[in-house]
Amino acid sequence: MADAALNSAPHTRNFAKRALAAAGATWFVVALLGQWVFVYYIAGFYGHSIATGNFAEWARHPSLITGYVAGDGAGNLFFAAHIVLAFVLTFSGALQLVPQVRKHAIAFHRWNGRVFLAATLAAAIGGLWLVWLRAPPAGGSENHVNDTAITINGVLIIAFAVLAWRAVRRKDIAAHQNWAMRTYLVTNGVWFLRVGVMAWAISTQGLAMDTFFAAWGFGSYVVPLLVFEAYLHAKRSDNAVVKVAMAGGLFALTALMGAGIVWAYLIMWGPLI
Ligand code: HEM
Repeated sequence: MADAALNSAPHTRNFAKRALAAAGATWFVVALLGQWVFVYYIAGFYGHSIATGNFAEWARHPSLITGYVAGDGAGNLFFAAHIVLAFVLTFSGALQLVPQVRKHAIAFHRWNGRVFLAATLAAAIGGLWLVWLRAPPAGGSENHVNDTAITINGVLIIAFAVLAWRAVRRKDIAAHQNWAMRTYLVTNGVWFLRVGVMAWAISTQGLAMDTFFAAWGFGSYVVPLLVFEAYLHAKRSDNAVVKVAMAGGLFALTALMGAGIVWAYLIMWGPLI
């Protein structure tokens, strides 16, 4: 009863709507900055070696499993291509979601969208090759839990990119926006993986890192997808309490993500640049 009264007050409904929009916008700004920090790392660490062809520089990376392999020219080149695609798609993907770009520069949005979709498809297909076929030594982590997790991530990227493309071809813009957002989220699974591991490490003081890493291999794309579905549900809901609860949850997750970004830079990326 009290709930119904609360929900029907126009100022409460307005507040709930604005809180949810503010939480979504804050999440997006923090994610965009964090992804561009990743882009900065990719350029800073790999830029020189790829520009000069001196791939042996990758040996400086402490946690690469199969980066540079002496004598595997084709495999090294393929890995370099994967890195270039990662740079392009991480930079361009975030731009696709900026409403001002969609509103004021629709031609740019279309071209940037094509670049993003092509790069993400190529990175996912190439990533599958890196995991299962690069040899010798075998690509991937030789840890079949992690390999399975990233393989499902790659398959979802391909499936969602096709669905986003098909929706825009039939001019179903609402469906296109949702599939594009899902494509963006799964494409950034590798980014969520790194940021999430760092957020876990600092918030739990490094508790059960191996178990968390195995689980988060899947969680790095499943959790963002579930949060997005919850956000869509709250957006459609007439219930102010649902909207405010979602906004609060999203602000908390954004704070955690922000901490993970700072730590990823300080511990993983910054020292390699
Ligand atoms: C589409 C978004 C993707 C991005 C932005 C991306 C980015 C990267 C980056 C930056 C690295 C170098 C590692 C580092 O410096 O931290 C890398 C390596 C790698 N990626 Fe991707 N990747 C993506 C998708 C995938 C997918 C879908 C797969 C597999 C299905 C994959 C498989 C690999 C493998 C096997 C390595 C080598 C890892 C190692 O040997 O340690 N990537 N990726």
